[in-house]
Amino acid sequence: MDFIIFNTCTVRDNANQRVYGRLGELNGYKKRNPGMKVALCGCMMQEPAVIEKLKKSYSFVDLIFGTHNIFKLAELIWTAYESEGMIIDIWEGTDKIVENLPAERKYPFKSGINIMFGCNNFCSYCIVPYVRGRERSREPEEILREIKRLVADGVVEVMLLGQNVNSYGRGLGQSVTFAGLLREVEKIEGLKRIRFMTSHPKDLSDELIEVMKHSQKICRHLHLPLQSGSTRILEKMNRRYTREQYVALAQKIRREIPDIAITTDIIVGFPGETPEDLEETIDVVRTVKYDNAFTFIYSKRTGTPAASMEQVPEAQIREGFDRLLKVVQDTAREQAMQYQGRRMEILVEEVMEEKHSMECPSSIVTGRLSNNLLVHVPGDASMIGKLVEVSLDECHGFYYTGHCV
Ligand code: 5AD
Ligand code: SF4
Repeated sequence: MDFIIFNTCTVRDNANQRVYGRLGELNGYKKRNPGMKVALCGCMMQEPAVIEKLKKSYSFVDLIFGTHNIFKLAELIWTAYESEGMIIDIWEGTDKIVENLPAERKYPFKSGINIMFGCNNFCSYCIVPYVRGRERSREPEEILREIKRLVADGVVEVMLLGQNVNSYGRGLGQSVTFAGLLREVEKIEGLKRIRFMTSHPKDLSDELIEVMKHSQKICRHLHLPLQSGSTRILEKMNRRYTREQYVALAQKIRREIPDIAITTDIIVGFPGETPEDLEETIDVVRTVKYDNAFTFIYSKRTGTPAASMEQVPEAQIREGFDRLLKVVQDTAREQAMQYQGRRMEILVEEVMEEKHSMECPSSIVTGRLSNNLLVHVPGDASMIGKLVEVSLDECHGFYYTGHCV
């Protein structure tokens, strides 16, 4: 191997620990292959304490850069090969967005599109605003141009990405909202499906609900992070909504857009969280009936306000996490069950298994419903990237088996 680059995440500490683990393994490998270069980039590099640690204990790393100057990648690689020792190029922040960077797609038929960068919300547990900088929205024309180019290249589904898409457009010279952007994206001919994430509950507008409700292309799925169901904890988290406001919003969305899947993120063990607080979270899970939820154990991030608050004992967190997870899984299973026997459309993503036996002559493909549930149906590679109508025959908890109709 000639060149290894790790693009890092620092939202939770276990990702950081894995990077150090990998670097430990690489050290020996590099001694045997002195020509090899090792590079690190991404959010973790925006933390000064990480850079200090790398300089001290991992001095064999050749190149380190951050989130704001990724557009310099080619130049930085060149410099790393031209010089000796560790090259560090970290920018503290930027107010610029570099357009038209080349990108390689994992799937030919779907693509993520950043519509904004950074975050201004400063939830008290979260390191993102410190490592990604202030919120900046891309010009709508740039976004639309990129999507049109992708569609011309075979893309039928886009995922619009931002830390808080509901505040898209703030700070742009022209007045444009996220809902307004979605209306324009909807008009792009050849584009079949639109997804987006993440929505901060405090900024989700009635205009967005209206646009989703009448859209032919926006998928029936909303990721709406709850984080906690206790108003007391939400306040300490600086989330700027109460339990009641969140539940009312989720119920309004379910009422206005039938068949919508609502998914969420929940943190267990935020400083000061009691078993009673967690009970309130579990109660919200039961009330909103999440179609899926990502549950995280609170991870202390140096430099965030929550890091200096009183931490919850580990045993309490473990117990609470397991209790929550069980409710989340039961609820998700129940939600998935309600589509049994229905006919719906999937976008076929990949061939699952090649099976050529006498009983089952065809292979199995897997596709996604608009609500993000997976469905396995008999089919072949020629269906990849196509929308096909299927019957949902049997629910297996988190996915269906079915057949094309
Ligand atoms: N500890 C645990 N989970 C966190 N998240 C963000 N910061 C932390 C943290 N310090 C979770 C939130 C967010 C998701 C992307 O990661 O739930 O929505
Ligand atoms: Fe972090 Fe809150 Fe911003 Fe999400 S909205 S990235 S949780 S600060």
